[in-house]
This record gives sequence, structure tokens and C-alpha cells, in this order.
Amino acid sequence: MTKPVSFFRGLMAAAVLISGSVSAAGAGIEMESAQVDLGNKGSLQRGAALYMNYCASCHSLGYQRYSRMAEDLGLTDEQVTKYLMPEGAKFGEAMNTGLDPVQATAWLGKAPPDLSLIARRKAEGADWVYNYLKSFYVDESRPMGWNNTVFPNASMPHVLWELQGSQHPLTEAKPEGGHCPKGEVNGQCLTGFSIPEHKKGSLSAEEYDQVARDITAFLAYVGEPSAAKRESIGVWAVLFLALFTLLAYFLNKEYWRDIH
Ligand code: HEC
Repeated sequence: MTKPVSFFRGLMAAAVLISGSVSAAGAGIEMESAQVDLGNKGSLQRGAALYMNYCASCHSLGYQRYSRMAEDLGLTDEQVTKYLMPEGAKFGEAMNTGLDPVQATAWLGKAPPDLSLIARRKAEGADWVYNYLKSFYVDESRPMGWNNTVFPNASMPHVLWELQGSQHPLTEAKPEGGHCPKGEVNGQCLTGFSIPEHKKGSLSAEEYDQVARDITAFLAYVGEPSAAKRESIGVWAVLFLALFTLLAYFLNKEYWRDIH
């Protein structure tokens, strides 16, 4: 009679499978891993500050409240109210932009979408956002003067250009009927980016990567406010199941010992 044991073993295998990270395969171009860490409060706090400074004027986070952000990110009400919230916003309110969508469309050609779920909606998840923030390049043919190899012809300008600098694409001929693993620029394959000396940003490449990673981490958190909590609960759940399986095994043995 080993039924209960194999049942619990199955349950545990399932728990391990579920808790393992599922990495979605990107169909288009190679994505660099964002390496976000939702357990890193410092990264999430910096991401929140960067988001409020550089993104919140255009984008809404309709499913996220300032109060919830304060609680989850370990910030005080005062820190959020004083340093992060725009004037006139209320602490219990959703993090919406004050931008009028009609005006935005007239100005940018498109209304900036709500970003609450952006890190979950794309097949590549948070990595997409990270790579997008790193892939703006100068393109005078675009209305805003910017283009993006991850999101070609995006109508969003490169709002972080003062930090990153102005990138120019490096390309090589596209192979006949071939695919460009890093993306395309004017029918050519992208090989990388260069930043001319006089167009350098205020940050080094590594520092800018960290900025992009922090913003991405913040948006990944917003997409799943309880993800950080759930990850740590997941570890305990697996440990608990392992312990429980062991217990069930010995109980089962003990129970049948006298009967055999
Ligand atoms: C000047 C306004 C403006 C600012 C500021 C801005 N964006 Fe955007 N953003 C847009 C617009 C407009 C689009 C839509 C682009 C399109 O669809 O062509 C967009 C699109 C996006 C998308 C893709 C959304 C999708 O559904 O595909 C992401 C991700 C994004 N923005 C992130 C950011 C982040 C992060 C920041 C801050 C660092 C930021 N944006 C700042 C205007 C803005």
C-alpha cells in the first residue's frame, strides 16, 4: 500500500514544476535578459522614482495605487506623497497620468498606453521592456527624431536620452532571405549601437543598464504586485510539501507495520 506516498510525491513534483520559472521564447529578435529581481527593494524603489520622473507624465498605471506602492516597496506615506506623487494627486488614487489622450494623440500621433500590464503582455515579458528602453536610436526621418529596433517606428520619443546619450545603429547587409537576429534598420541587420563622443549621456553604459533594469523591475512589480511575496511563499510551499511527503511516508510505514 504505497498510494498516499506516490500521491504526495506527485503533488510535490507538480509544485516544483509550477514554481520553476517558465521562460517564454521570443519569436522575433534576440532579447538580452533584464535580470530583474523583485525581491530587491532598492531596485524597485529606484525604478519607482525613475518611472515617476520620466514616464508618469505620459503613461498611466491604472491598476496601481500610490498607497499600495508605498506599502509594497517599503516607502513611507510621506516619502511617496512628498517625493513621488505629482501635485494634486491623492495617496489612495490610481497612478494615472494627467495627460489628455486627445492632446497626446495630436502631439505624438498616438496616445501613450497604460503600462500596468506591459511586463506581462509581451511574449518576452519584462525582457521586452528592458530591451526596448535600450534600443532607441537617432532617426531624423521620424517625427520625434527617434526610432527603436525592438519596437520599429514607435511614436514614443527617447525620454531617457540625457542619461543614455544618442545612439546610432551599426548595421551590416542582410543575408539573402535571411533573418536579422538583433533586429533591422532600413532593411539592414543591426549589429550594435555606437554613441558619438559629443552625444554621450550623463551615465556610463553599465549605469544606464541599471536604470533600464530598475524601471523594468518596477513595471514587472506593477504587473504583479504580489509576485515578490508569492516567490518567497513558493519556496516555503515546496519545503512544506517536501516535509509533508516525508511525514506521510513514515506515517504510512508506521501504520502498516503492525498489520503486516
Ligand atoms: C512623451 C510621452 C511619453 C513618455 C514621457 C514616455 N512614453 Fe512610453 N510611449 C509613449 C507613446 C506615445 C507610446 C506608444 C508608441 C506606439 O504605439 O507607437 C509609448 C509606448 C510605450 C511602451 C510600449 C507599450 C505597448 O503597449 O507596446 C512602453 C513599454 C513604454 N512606452 C514605456 C515607457 C517608459 C518606461 C517610460 C519612461 C522611461 C515612457 N514610456 C515614457 C509616450 C511616452
